[in-house]
Amino acid sequence: MRVSARAHPNIALVKYWGKRDSERNLPAVGSISITLGDLWTDMHIDTDARADGLTVNGEQAESMMPRMSAALDQLFGTDRSRVSVTSESNFPVAAGLASSAAAFASLVVAATAASGKELSKDALANFAGSLSGSAARSLYDGFVELKNAGDRVAVRSIRDTESWPLSVVIAITASGPKPVGSGEAMEISRRTSPFYVRWVDEQGEDLARARDAIAARDFPALAETAEHNCLKMHSVMWSSRPPMVYWNAATLDCMHAVRRLRADGVNVFFTIDAGPQVKAVCSPEDVDRVRDALSKVEGVEDIMTSGLGSGAHLIE
Ligand code: DP6
Repeated sequence: MRVSARAHPNIALVKYWGKRDSERNLPAVGSISITLGDLWTDMHIDTDARADGLTVNGEQAESMMPRMSAALDQLFGTDRSRVSVTSESNFPVAAGLASSAAAFASLVVAATAASGKELSKDALANFAGSLSGSAARSLYDGFVELKNAGDRVAVRSIRDTESWPLSVVIAITASGPKPVGSGEAMEISRRTSPFYVRWVDEQGEDLARARDAIAARDFPALAETAEHNCLKMHSVMWSSRPPMVYWNAATLDCMHAVRRLRADGVNVFFTIDAGPQVKAVCSPEDVDRVRDALSKVEGVEDIMTSGLGSGAHLIE
């Protein structure tokens, strides 16, 4: 039997960095993200295969295998038949574009349906989050907030796509896989960065500001909060031992280009995850100007554009 689901990656405007319980993969902080509609991962589950296998864009994905097998054991039981999982994405994977969020969100939706179980969206989000924290957010549409709630997470959409249709221009400055995966990197930060405690302490303030800015569709306030939160997270990474610097020269030049545009009156701000790509969030009418400016930055290899989109769902 084959069951398929599609999920979109999401990009955090107020970031998740650090775990309060690494066994259960519970985040140390809440986060707010936007789900990207034009980038997608399709996940196909075939039951009764000869061996468990995971192919991502035609290649074996060894690093995701343990988390995927654990998820399948949870749904089908440990005496299950083997399951083959194949996924296709229309964007580069493992390069700081939240590919694991889209992969694990689509995996739980497809595999749960294939197992014949029916889980609520909240249960699916918690299941996805136990595999990859950011994946919990890809179950939901538009602007999404993840809150810590006791021994689980509570995720909800705080604004729909239509009522504030922002765009994201992504400058790809290097397409290879990242040197340290985010799960491992955030553990290093928790153990070693002198700024980590402060980062966790201040997150509530940043979340409140972003929540209010989104409710009021206040672009300048969201821009200020998102850039501050992003740079604070990278300061934690830089001050870890060993330091984790995901940026390259083009990453920094793109950030300057975005700030210059904003100084010229364009509604745009940047955010950067555990990778060198720069995501410029802007008003749809400013997409061409932002694309044009970022494509002129030396070292930018490719540019992608996306609007906001929907949560993970089954497909034919
Ligand atoms: C920088 O969700 O990939 O993108 O839970 O260990 O799988 P694990 O981590 P992951 O971390 C995402 C970190 C981030 C910020 C964010 O998306 O909020």
